[in-house]
Amino acid sequence: MKKKCFILGIETSCDETSAAVVENGRKILSNVISSQVDLHKRYGGVVPEIASRKHVEIINAVIQDSLEQAGVTFRDIDVIGVTYGPGLVGALLVGVSAAKALAFALDKPLVGVHHIEGHIAANYLEHQDLQPPYICLVASGGHSHIVHIQDYNTFEILGQTRDDAAGEAFDKVARVIGLGYPGGPLIDKLAKQGNKDAVKFPKVSFDDGSLDFSFSGVKTAVLNYVNKLEQKGETYNRADIAASFQNAVVEVLVDKTVVAAQKLGINTIALAGGVAANSALRQLLAERAKENGLKVYYPSPILCTDNAAMIACAAYYEFIAGKRADLDLNAVPNLRLGY
Ligand code: KG4
Ligand code: ZN
Repeated sequence: MKKKCFILGIETSCDETSAAVVENGRKILSNVISSQVDLHKRYGGVVPEIASRKHVEIINAVIQDSLEQAGVTFRDIDVIGVTYGPGLVGALLVGVSAAKALAFALDKPLVGVHHIEGHIAANYLEHQDLQPPYICLVASGGHSHIVHIQDYNTFEILGQTRDDAAGEAFDKVARVIGLGYPGGPLIDKLAKQGNKDAVKFPKVSFDDGSLDFSFSGVKTAVLNYVNKLEQKGETYNRADIAASFQNAVVEVLVDKTVVAAQKLGINTIALAGGVAANSALRQLLAERAKENGLKVYYPSPILCTDNAAMIACAAYYEFIAGKRADLDLNAVPNLRLGY
C-alpha cells in the first residue's frame, strides 16, 4: 500500500447525507454533512420516504464537495467505504448504490461499514492515542449499546437496550413536553435551568445484573406525570422535568458503562453516537471516571452525530484487515454488530 491511503466515506443511513475524505484512517481532509432535519421537523420525526428522496437528490453534490474541500480528485481515492446497515433501508440504498457505482467506475475497492462501528471509530479521528481494548457506550436515536472493542474490527456487545434507544426516549419526552425535534439537544439545553431532583423518574436495572438497558419505563413515567397534571389543570415546570428525566437516563448509562469496564478490568471508556453530545452525560461520566481511575474519550459534538468521516475511519481499519465488499453489496436495515 502507498504511504497515504485516501478513503472516501459515504453515509446515508438516516437523515444526514454525508461524504468525507480521510487520510490513513485518522486525519479528516473533509467531512461534508447535509442535514435534512428541517424537512423532518414538521412531522416530529424522520419520514423514511422523504429521507430517501432527499439523499437521491443531493448525494452527488455532497460527494463532489467532499473531494473539493479535501483538495483531491476521484483519481486520488484508494478505497470507498459506505454504511450498509443498520438504518432505514431506502436511505441506506442510496449511499450503497452511489458507492458501488463509484467503485465500479473507478475500479477501486469497496468496503461495507456497520453504522455503529462508524460511531465508535469517530473517537479515533480526534484522539490519536486511543487504541483497543476499551469499552464504548454507543447511544443514539436507534441504539444504546455497551461494546467491548477488543480490536479495531472485533466487537463484543456487553449490553443493549431491550426496548427504546436512549435518543429515542429523549425525542419522545421532548415531544410530550412540547419542545420539538430532535429532542435531545433541546432537553439538554432546558435541563440546565431545571432541578434534576425535582421528580423521581424510574432508573431501570435488571435483577440478573445484566448490562442491558430499558428506557420505555422512564418515557412512560414522564408521559403519565404530565398527563395527570394536565388533567387536573395544573401547570408543570418543563425545565425540572427535562432535568429529572435526563438525570434518570444518564445515571443508568454511566453506572452500567463503569460497571462494564470494572467487570472486564479495562480502564478506558469512550462515548459515541448522538446522545454522546449530551452535556450531563459527559459531566457525570467524567466525575465517575475520576473516582474510579478510568480514562474517558469522547468525540466533539459534530462527530457524535451521523457523518461520513467516521465511516471512512472504520472502513480504513476494515480495509487494512483485508475486508472487501463485492458489487452485490446490499443494504441490511437490521445489521448486527460483532458476534
Ligand atoms: O447518532 P445520531 O445522529 O443518529 C442515529 O444514528 O440515531 O443520533 C441522533 C440522536 C437523536 O435521538 C437526538 O435527539 C440525540 O441523538 N441527541 C442528543 C443530544 N444531541 C443529539 N441526546 C441528548 N443530548 C444531546 N445533546
Ligand atoms: Zn447514528
